[in-house]
Amino acid sequence: MHVLGIESSCDETAAAVVSDGQTILSSVVASQVKIHHPYGGVVPELAARHHIEAIDAVVAQAIAEADLQPGRIDAVAATQGPGLVGALLVGFSYAKSYAYGLQKPWVGVDHLIGHLQSILLSKGPSPHFPFVALLVSGGHTAIYQVRGHLDVTLLGQTRDDAAGEAYDKVAKLLGLGYPGGALIDKLAGQGEPGKVQLPRPMRDDETLDFSFSGLKSAVVRLVQEGGIPQGDALAGLTAEFQAAACDVLVAKLMAAAALVGVSEIALVGGVAANRGLREHLTNEAAEHGLTVYLPDLSLCGDNAAMIAAAGYHHLVAGHRGALKDDVYSRSRAGLPG
Ligand code: KG4
Ligand code: ZN
Repeated sequence: MHVLGIESSCDETAAAVVSDGQTILSSVVASQVKIHHPYGGVVPELAARHHIEAIDAVVAQAIAEADLQPGRIDAVAATQGPGLVGALLVGFSYAKSYAYGLQKPWVGVDHLIGHLQSILLSKGPSPHFPFVALLVSGGHTAIYQVRGHLDVTLLGQTRDDAAGEAYDKVAKLLGLGYPGGALIDKLAGQGEPGKVQLPRPMRDDETLDFSFSGLKSAVVRLVQEGGIPQGDALAGLTAEFQAAACDVLVAKLMAAAALVGVSEIALVGGVAANRGLREHLTNEAAEHGLTVYLPDLSLCGDNAAMIAAAGYHHLVAGHRGALKDDVYSRSRAGLPG
């Protein structure tokens, strides 16, 4: 079954064709980073408008690169939520109309369920169900027990900022630019952690929840007191920030694996591209005798291949979208009921 996936929840307009939920025939991602760069963050209205401009060409390119005629698309899947409502509406409405025009089924997909598929779509061995996955992105930080493609339970999540959001805010504060996650990651590789000390919020508490706003505020206070550090001191501060964020993320994932009693763990989401996190997690997993699965870099950030794959599993389960369906801004993935 060839599923056309469409993703427009934030600032990437993406389309992909995936065969049988497993083989990526094409995956096109048009980023709006340059558009939002001057504002230091995503401007929702601009994001929606640029999705409208980009979506036709992005979908056409995904179909052309998959070497298919549109009639060979068997179904359409689109991100229904969570995300920016105006942005979501573009891809979701486009998907409805596209499927209606082709007289093919379509289905809405939760963006976070999509991210969880990325580890199963990555090259190399896939984790076996059940496993626990840490989802770290610009909008979310959560741990899930994954029993099947769509059968997930939320074990814990951030109570305030997402990890990627904290990276982006700290990068902006330090004058590094936007989006800041990858920039901090790069600079942290050149610095020494520990010269300044930052907190590891909630690392040792009993829950699997996170809190990153205190870590961000600790950096704000350092900058208020001493200004933005330069040279080695700046690299050192980013290294300590990265060490603090990764310490908490990795500790919680280890605790989740122990709590649920699984030996396989996975990382997904935009922050899963972080070199420090990948390295730290790999080392800790080895110490705990766990097998860790890291996604391909091309599948960490927002993409439509993960949406097409999730859509395939929904369609196989008999789920279908209705024309009256609407987008939503908050995920219910993994919650009871
Ligand atoms: O999953 P994603 O593309 O979009 C959301 O669903 O939010 O994640 C984007 C987030 C941004 O906050 C970005 O700064 C962060 O992922 N990110 C990174 C790295 N690459 C992207 N954060 C830390 N280190 C990186 N290498
Ligand atoms: Zn995402």
